[in-house]
Amino acid sequence: MSSEVRKAVFPAGGLGTRFLPATKVIPKEMLPVVDKPIIQYGVEEAIASGIEHIIIITGRGKGTMEDHFDHSFELDATLERRGKQDLLAVSRNVATMARISYVRQKDPLGLGHAVLCAKDFVGDEPFAVLLPDDVIDAEVPCLKQLIDVFDEKDGSVLATQTVEGPAISAYGVLAGSPDPANPRIYNCTGMVEKPKFEDAPSTQAIVGRYVLTPRVFELLEQTQPGAGGEIQLTDGIKALLKEEKVFGYTFAGKRFDAGDKFGMLQATIEFALKRPEFGDDLRAYLKNLPL
Ligand code: G1P
Repeated sequence: MSSEVRKAVFPAGGLGTRFLPATKVIPKEMLPVVDKPIIQYGVEEAIASGIEHIIIITGRGKGTMEDHFDHSFELDATLERRGKQDLLAVSRNVATMARISYVRQKDPLGLGHAVLCAKDFVGDEPFAVLLPDDVIDAEVPCLKQLIDVFDEKDGSVLATQTVEGPAISAYGVLAGSPDPANPRIYNCTGMVEKPKFEDAPSTQAIVGRYVLTPRVFELLEQTQPGAGGEIQLTDGIKALLKEEKVFGYTFAGKRFDAGDKFGMLQATIEFALKRPEFGDDLRAYLKNLPL
């Protein structure tokens, strides 16, 4: 088994019901934060973390994602003819940035099932999972931080953040304790998907970045439907925990839930404020609003 993390799986088959009506026809992964579809943020993060091969799990109606990461001959030819070299570079860059394979998830059986669809592409090597809804702003890419911990600790690693109060029920939640040598590392002893607030084993919520060993595929094959009647990735990793070490990692950076309307607004404002072309103008605009 190669220990290098070279492949990343992007589950993108979901219906995006939290973002209706925008997602009636448009895949939620294609909604933009400023000017980039949210899935592109994840793909760029994966590439910046050393990933060489991306596997996107798609479903019905998700074809625009494939078009997005492909050449657009008409657009490119028009831009070339008009001498718009800078825009041409933007368009070509998206088409060539990564080696991407697509797998159709024919039945919406859950996140664990979506990841399992990538089994044949990943094979017998550790791999990453990135949930495109979670857009993460970080100096060192979040996935790179997890891969460094994976290399050091030799066990699967899940990104986490502290979530206080009833909001914890929207997440997978870890049980365990912080590592005395490095409080960012959480030594996992269990985990539960979307617990009731009163049953949550900790405030350590799983965020959509994982580095996993391939054993999880075999365990996912045996995983029964759990929370919401779906085959949950959290339950597959919980089974992995009986055989191997699993760690949480409080990454340095900020995560936005861009699959949610308010999260998308927050991401849009914060990413836009960082843009040199209009960040200052937006700051001045926001300051002048009668709030
Ligand atoms: C998924 C996972 C959950 C995780 C969350 C992070 O849930 O099942 O464990 O905490 O992503 O965004 P979803 O948001 O798809 O319901």
